[in-house]
Amino acid sequence: MSSQLNERVALVTGGSRGIGLAVAKALLAEGASVVICARRQESLDEALDELRPLGRVEGRVCDVGRFAEVAELFQFMDETFGRIDFLINNAGVGRFAPIGEIDPATWDEVIATNLSGVFYCCHQAIPLMKKGGGGFIINIGSLAGKHAFAGASAYCASKFGLGGLSEAMMLDLRHDKIRVSTIMPGSVDTKFGGADRPAADWKIAPEHIAETVLHLLMMPERSLVSQVEMRPSRPPKK
Ligand SMILES: NC(=O)c1ccc[n+]([C@@H]2O[C@H](COP(=O)([O-])OP(=O)(O)OC[C@H]3O[C@@H](n4cnc5c(N)ncnc54)[C@H](OP(=O)(O)O)[C@@H]3O)[C@@H](O)[C@H]2O)c1
Repeated sequence: MSSQLNERVALVTGGSRGIGLAVAKALLAEGASVVICARRQESLDEALDELRPLGRVEGRVCDVGRFAEVAELFQFMDETFGRIDFLINNAGVGRFAPIGEIDPATWDEVIATNLSGVFYCCHQAIPLMKKGGGGFIINIGSLAGKHAFAGASAYCASKFGLGGLSEAMMLDLRHDKIRVSTIMPGSVDTKFGGADRPAADWKIAPEHIAETVLHLLMMPERSLVSQVEMRPSRPPKK
């Protein structure tokens, strides 16, 4: 087995299923040590059963939208590994309704998870990365962060915000040997937005996003692909 990322330590938020789980598998296959987090212990346990045969992996319950929980997660990372090389900000929720039907609690949940959660994780990761001599932050945005659509105000606001955060952060952090890239996928074949979401083989596979994550991490150190737009190559014609 290849092991290009041996000795590297990665945190994948929302690593218990979908894109995050595929990214965790890909990182383990390349020899990295991986920590995943999610809000629910049961989903973490199921994922850990699948991941443990692949390498060194730990799972922690953490809601990325709550700063105190994020701080605890990074305390665990520091005590266990003493470093973090890769932060994959993937945790996200999709709540879709016309603007007049979105209640403030739903708005707060989407912004806390998809936008503030990324800031909280970066806030904790940056000092550790600097201490270790550098790092790589990959944010999983969305094409909904570039192109708004009806019924998605909260989600679009969170992902447009994430686009701005990512770009400004990239400009700050490259001087500290910390690279920041954002992957903006279109439809990916996961249960995002609800367990009843039908599978569709025209959508991007989560494993393809994971491959892109690996490509970015393995780019030569003096170059940086700051944004990647990924679309299904043959969606149904409208
Ligand atoms: N699927 C798509 O079509 C698509 C397209 C573009 C962008 N994206 C983005 O890709 C990312 C992953 O989506 P996915 O399709 O893999 O979704 P998914 O299958 O629903 O998985 C989401 C993961 O995030 C975790 N999570 C949710 N809220 C969290 C929170 N507050 N704190 C920590 N973990 C949390 C979930 O576990 P728990 O529920 O146990 O917390 C789960 O592990 C999201 O940022 C999404 O916006 C998805």
